[in-house]
Amino acid sequence: MNTIQIRTEIPGPRSRALMARREAAIPRGPASATPVFAARADGAVIEDVDGNRYLDFAGGIGCLNIGHRSPSVISAVREQLEKHLHLCFAVTPYEGYVAVAEKLNSLAPGNFPKKTILVNSGAEAIENAIKIARAYTKRPAVICFEDAFHGRTLLTMSLTSKTHPYKAGFQPFASDIYRIPFAYPFRGEKGATAESFANHLEDAFKRSVAPESVAAVIAEPVLGEGGFIVPPLGYFQLLQKICHKHGILFIADEVQSGFARTGKWFASEHFGIEPDLITMAKSLGGGMPIAAVTGRAEIMDAPDVGSLGGTYCGHPLSCAAALAAIETIEKEGLLARSTAIGKQFEQRARSWQKKWPLIGEVRGLGGMCAIELVRDPQTLEPADIETKSVARYCCEHGLITITAGTFNNVIRILVPLVVTDEQFDEGLCVIEDALASVAEQKQAALSHA
Ligand SMILES: Cc1ncc(COP(=O)(O)O)c(C=O)c1O
Repeated sequence: MNTIQIRTEIPGPRSRALMARREAAIPRGPASATPVFAARADGAVIEDVDGNRYLDFAGGIGCLNIGHRSPSVISAVREQLEKHLHLCFAVTPYEGYVAVAEKLNSLAPGNFPKKTILVNSGAEAIENAIKIARAYTKRPAVICFEDAFHGRTLLTMSLTSKTHPYKAGFQPFASDIYRIPFAYPFRGEKGATAESFANHLEDAFKRSVAPESVAAVIAEPVLGEGGFIVPPLGYFQLLQKICHKHGILFIADEVQSGFARTGKWFASEHFGIEPDLITMAKSLGGGMPIAAVTGRAEIMDAPDVGSLGGTYCGHPLSCAAALAAIETIEKEGLLARSTAIGKQFEQRARSWQKKWPLIGEVRGLGGMCAIELVRDPQTLEPADIETKSVARYCCEHGLITITAGTFNNVIRILVPLVVTDEQFDEGLCVIEDALASVAEQKQAALSHA
């Protein structure tokens, strides 16, 4: 039986009424990718306020690797509700915070002593990672990458690459930030290799900033908002080697790529690197807000007592949820499940690529997979309008998807890893129909021209 059930036009009348209230009450700034309002969600399924049922391939932008309302998270949160809510770790500490830190110290790559702080969001984790790196190295500068996304606060927006909608109109940015090209093989120079991409870092030391001024290099092991870009194997090892030669810390932003998304706890593991600091958020909380910085103990201990933290950091409910989420990934074998989902996607997407030149590239690492759409396979002109049409078609046909990419031309898969094979296949069929419909329209337009 199909999971998807569409009973009304999309958006239905209740969603439309809520949208009118939303537009009157909420400014344009916070966007919503779909025009339908959710009523409830479970596993990989969302039901809207009009009773329409969707498959969810967006997972709250990668926060729901263990699925909506995972029973383990619900019972852990319920249990915690009976004990205590907010106390403030800076006033009266509690065990949950310590237990999450211990767990993350043991999961993060690297066989060396580690320590962890907990915060509320991905952006806050990155803000803190930079503070820690500056405190440890006593240097000001940070090097980041083109096509990167690190958040919307002043510092993380400054580290973020994409101008519209993230940066335009919000100057001045934070200072001492330098940007180099990321290893984006599909759009890189012809014949580029891990070595030639990594050389951009050495170049920056001559052209932009002296290495002895640089506290850290920060990179997403697989670019998230930038379009699920996977660099060549060996790239990060080279970057890390250059960093260490100059006493620069390497920070891996695993906010989107962590917690089984790529088939491992952290995408860094695919590249054989042991980052000095790792930022985490999203699926760490299994649907509750929590984020972390985990790193080498001596680096994490650099900032003074009282210099890190915040009122709600490591909220007791979020700590309980995080411990349950981690246990669920372990018990339900979601690392292997992610790899299987990635394979299923790749097989299907390669068949689309054979049919439609619109599919410029199929790429991914485990369940963090995507297609990049182009208007012309020679020029690689980004097919942004077509990508939007695919996402709209999917929503109207019961599949929630989100796009990505600096050029807005990537459909990315962030499906909860608890999706069944049948459900995943059902969702892929909707994407296939959407691509067929967009390709047909393009063909029709060409023959009328
Ligand atoms: C790689 C990466 N870093 C940082 C962030 C910012 O996280 P948050 O939205 O929780 O502040 C995101 C959010 O999408 C992200 O994907």
